[in-house]
Parts: sequence; structure tokens; C-alpha cells
Amino acid sequence: MLVKGLFPPNPRILRLSAFVFKSDRMPVTVNSFAKINLGLRIGAARPDGFHELRTVYQTIALHDTIHVQVVRGSGIEIRCADSRVPKDGTNTCYKVVELAMATLRSKGRVVIEIEKRLPVQGGLGGASSNAVATLVALERALKKSLSAADKLRIAAEVGSDLPLFLVGGTVLGIGRGEEVCPLPDLPSVQCVVASPEIGVSTPQAFADWDAMMGAGEAGAEFRSSRTGEDTPRSIAYGKLTLPGNSDRMNKFGRSVASWLSGSTSGVPAGGRGRAETPLLDLVRTGIENDFEKVVFPKYPELREVKSLLERAGAIYASLSGSGSAVYGLFRSQEAARKAAARLRKAGTPAQATTTLKRQQYWKKFLVSRF
Ligand code: C5P
Repeated sequence: MLVKGLFPPNPRILRLSAFVFKSDRMPVTVNSFAKINLGLRIGAARPDGFHELRTVYQTIALHDTIHVQVVRGSGIEIRCADSRVPKDGTNTCYKVVELAMATLRSKGRVVIEIEKRLPVQGGLGGASSNAVATLVALERALKKSLSAADKLRIAAEVGSDLPLFLVGGTVLGIGRGEEVCPLPDLPSVQCVVASPEIGVSTPQAFADWDAMMGAGEAGAEFRSSRTGEDTPRSIAYGKLTLPGNSDRMNKFGRSVASWLSGSTSGVPAGGRGRAETPLLDLVRTGIENDFEKVVFPKYPELREVKSLLERAGAIYASLSGSGSAVYGLFRSQEAARKAAARLRKAGTPAQATTTLKRQQYWKKFLVSRF
């Protein structure tokens, strides 16, 4: 519904494109944008093997480009110059096309070309975004629409991070991350995305989290970082009751709720006046990404990238998803550009970009039909 509603069909264009489609079947080209996570809380492992999550996703302007074409024949073909991108049935784009073609009862050979610029295994949702971009492009190439419910079902079936890209902008993610809820459209904020050449496996990061939580209650969080010995707090917690997963999840929920009530009521939070933008208000509620606690000890260079961003003036810096991308939010484009240049000079690939509001996300989504 939401996606469909953003592309009101112009009957004249539809008639013209239907003619062109039948005669030469040119590809549909779409931009596949990245996301960052503004805080991420990991909860308990569930019986289905996934973990309960709370996060706020934010789409950003960095993107891949995807071309989708339906030609005579059958099967699915993936073309991509990047050797790290799988071309077989394990590719998320392949999976969504398989499900969508079956749901639509459509026939034809689907050719997907991915122009890869986003990092692979970078925590920016590249593969998930590529799949959703392919899904929406496929509908246009076939001139058939899936219902919003079918699109969400297919997206969630393929991966936890896909549904957010059917919404765009600032999005609350709950469940295993696949239950999404659009949050108020916020003004754009400048940001720098550093993409160290490290691929972090998300399942491994979750397994490391479980091991840490299992090894001594809340693990490192409650231990002295210098000595590794229990702090008085951890001893107290060890003997009594630790803050459970649900307490930690509730705390995240309260942070987001207090931010939302501040940003919608217009009443300054805590009487201290609002920050420059509502997005900066959100990160100032103290939200954190739990993955930092297991990914930083394993890849200390990522912690260093975060502190470099902070030293370069970031108002907030964090690992995105399970990494390896680390982002920083900045007050001005100038500050973001300077910080990105500093990181590159230090040997870390980095780009200055902006967050993308929901409206901008959909406006820039479709590049061309022909
Ligand atoms: O859903 P997605 O394909 O992104 O998940 C990849 C893997 O990450 C899952 O197989 C699971 O091991 C882990 N995961 C998890 N809890 C989540 C999301 C992902 O344990 N909420």
C-alpha cells in the first residue's frame, strides 16, 4: 500500500510503457539504498534460532543500482562484477524473485544486474536492500502488483533486514527486526560512513553475543575492563538478579517512546531544550548498539574508527548492525567531508553522505523505466 501509493500510475505513461515493454522489454533501473542502525538491543535467543531485537533503522543516501529485466524463457540470472556477490540461489535477489514469480504466477526469464558499491557484509543492509529493490523493480517490469501484505511476507521470509526497505526513512524494527513501523519523517542529517575492509558474519556476531551473555551473566558489560575482575556491581548482580533481556529491551523502548513524545508534542525534553534536530535528540537518549560489545573486542580497529569519528567532531558515532561499517552523525556537510577525508588519510575507506527521509527515499528510488 505504502509503496504502491508513492508511485501513482499515470494512465498515459502506463499505456506508453506497456507498448514499449511488449516490443523490447527494456530493464527497470532502481537505486538500492543503505541503512544504518540508530541503536540496537539484542534480546533472548528464540526457539526458532533468531534473537528478539529492538532497533531504529535509518535509510541513507549511499546506494547500489539494480537493473531488472524480464525476457523470454525461464529461470533467474544474476550479473554482478563483484566476485563476492553470489550469483546463485543463495542471493537474496534470487530468493525474492523466486517467491514473487510464484505468487504472481508469472513466467519469463528474470535478469538482475547489480552495480555494487555498498560494502558486502558491512552492516549497511546492502544485500537486503538489493532484494527489496529487485522486488519493486520486478513488479514494474512485469506490470503487475503484489499486495503490500505479500511484499512484506516475501521480504520477511528472505531476511530480517528486508522489510525496513519497503518503508524507508526512520523505521522502528522489532521482533527479529522484520516487524517494521514507520517513525516520523525527520530532517536529513549529515553523516560519514566508514567501511573498513572487514566482513563481519552476522550469525557469528549473534553467537558471540550468546557466549558473552552466557559467560557470567551480562558478561563484559558488568566486568572491570582493566582487570577482568568482577566489579562490586557485577558481584551484586551475580548474587541477586541481573537485568534480564526484557528489562534491557524495555529500556530501549522507553528511550524511543520518550524521544517520540518529545518530537511530536513540541515540548522540550527535560526542559533543556531540543537538540538541533529530532534525529540527534534520539541518539542523545543514550541508545547503543549491543553488537559493539562483541565485535569491537574481536576487531579493535573498528573501535579505533569510532573514536576517530568522535575526535573528528561526530555528535554520535556507532557500529551499524553487526558491522563492519561505523558511522558518525555531523552538524554540517563541511564537518562530515573533513572527517571522511581524515579517515581516508588514516587508511579507512569513508564517504560523507546524508540520511534519507522516507519521501526522498521513494523519490530517488526509481531511476528509469527504459
Ligand atoms: O534474517 P537474516 O537472514 O538476516 O539472519 C541471518 C542470521 O542472523 C540468522 O540465520 C540468525 O543466525 C541471525 N539472526 C538472529 N536474530 C535476528 C536476526 C538474525 O539470530 N534477529
